[in-house]
Formats: sequence, C-alpha cells, structure tokens
Amino acid sequence: MSHAASSSSKFQVQGAVALVTGAGRAKGIGRGTVDALIAAGARKVYVTVRDVKTAQPLYAAHGAKVVVLEHDVTQTGRAAELAGKLADVNLVVHNAGLFTGASALGDDAEQRREFEVNVFGPLALTRAFAPVLARNGGGALTLINSVASHFSFPLGASYSASKAALHSFTQALRRELAGQGTLVLGVYPGPIDTDMAEKIPMEKASPADVGRSIVAALNAGDEDLYPDATGAQMYAAHRQDPKAMEKQLASMG
Ligand SMILES: NC(=O)c1ccc[n+]([C@@H]2O[C@H](COP(=O)([O-])OP(=O)(O)OC[C@H]3O[C@@H](n4cnc5c(N)ncnc54)[C@H](OP(=O)(O)O)[C@@H]3O)[C@@H](O)[C@H]2O)c1
Repeated sequence: MSHAASSSSKFQVQGAVALVTGAGRAKGIGRGTVDALIAAGARKVYVTVRDVKTAQPLYAAHGAKVVVLEHDVTQTGRAAELAGKLADVNLVVHNAGLFTGASALGDDAEQRREFEVNVFGPLALTRAFAPVLARNGGGALTLINSVASHFSFPLGASYSASKAALHSFTQALRRELAGQGTLVLGVYPGPIDTDMAEKIPMEKASPADVGRSIVAALNAGDEDLYPDATGAQMYAAHRQDPKAMEKQLASMG
C-alpha cells in the first residue's frame, strides 16, 4: 500500500456515518469498503444499489448497521432527494463505476454512459452532499479513481478518459471543499479481483484489502491512495518516464 499524507483533517472512521455507492456485489470494492468501515467502528453505512434484491448478503453480514437504498447514480436529478434523506452522513464514498471497454473510436453511447456513471454521477452526488458534510463538521469524501486516471489503458480508452476526468475533478473538489474542512481522498487502484476486472490477465489484489487501505488512509488524513502493489508500481513507472509508459501500454493494444 502506498499513500501520501498532506491533510490536517481530523476525520475518524470510528463513529462515522457513511454512504457507499454501488456496493451490492459480493466481490466488489464497494462491499470490501463497507465491510472495512464497519470493522473499523463506523456507526452506520448507507449503501446504494440499483436493485435492492442484491442487498440481502449485506444485511446478513451487518444487520442494522447497513441501510440499503435504491439509487442509480446516473439519475442525477435524484441526488438532492437522497441527500435530503441522509442528513447524518459525514463520509461519502463514490464507488459505483462502469467499464464498457469502448475504444476512443468506439461506440458513442458506451462512452457517454461511462462518463455519466464515472464522472457526472459522483459530481451530482457531491454537489448534493457537500452541505450535509459541512453541517456534520466537514467529514470526508472518497472517490474511487483508477491508475487509469493517469494513463490510457488500451483495453478501455473511454474508461481511462472518464477516470482521468474524475481525477481532475477530485483535485478541484479538494480545493473547493477545503474551506468547509472536508478531507478529499482519491483512491487509485490497479487491477483488483472483482467482476469488472474479470478479463484483465494480471495479478489482482483483493477488494477486502482495498477496503482496509481506504479506512487506514481516511484515519491518517491522506489525500491520495494507491492501494495495491501492481497499481503503485505502474504509477511509479509512469512518474519516472511518462512517455515510456505510454509506449509500453500502446504495445499491449
Ligand atoms: N476492479 C478493478 O480492477 C478496478 C481498478 C480501478 C478502479 N476500479 C473502480 O472501483 C470501483 C468499483 O468497481 P469494482 O471493481 O468493484 O467493479 P464491480 O464489481 O463491477 O462494481 C461496480 C459497481 O458499480 C455499480 N454501478 C454501475 N453502474 C451504476 C449506476 N449507474 N448506478 C449505480 N451503481 C452502478 C454496479 O452495480 P450493479 O451490480 O447494479 O451493476 C456495481 O455494484 C469502480 O469505480 C471502478 O471503476 C476498479
């Protein structure tokens, strides 16, 4: 795990009330994060799913500590309604994400859908929840980006572009929410063993480990988290020689 501390935030997961989006899948990073938050003493975790029928295992594991709500992040017009119901939230984790595999010259509808889920969904929810976080002492915002925020993966050009946009918004939100004392944590995983990465032929870290790393980073007041060894190595290689990294990725395409 690699993370960089530079915030003076005093956020603590112990006693927090969290909202985690898109956490209905048994193998997902969302589920790993919910489990880790509760294990670290979060008081309550609101979980949004698209289909509440997928939530039964969450109730079985955590009982009344989880509250499951139906929400599709692309329904941006419903973000304010959700925030209105969840006045006690002091941590928002934007986890819901979509990978279509669309190339740059690929399908326009798939590309737009990726940007709706990966960029405009989190932005709308953040707009709605920023005042809630402010009222609850500043709190914290966690955005699940990707190492693909930093360079374009041939397997998912449109996905990489959406995560690059989310990375830029992560930096902007940190600046814009600094005045209200909100810790903004950007998480940049490499390949993680979830349904999304099923077809990626690389060694993968576990979603449970990512969840635990997120908890540690929040408690430490970190702003950036590279939660797995492969992703951290790729990011280090990119920083050392961005052009060499671009050429290496292009040769895989
Ligand atoms: N796995 C990796 O290698 C990896 C690497 C870097 C970053 N990430 C990021 O990590 C996050 C979690 O992904 P994952 O790997 O855990 O993949 P996953 O198992 O495919 O989970 C994605 C989740 O997002 C939800 N979702 C998709 N579209 C949605 C929408 N419109 N509204 C609400 N929820 C929606 C899905 O819900 P349904 O079950 O209803 O489809 C699912 O629960 C994503 O942001 C992803 O981009 C993953």
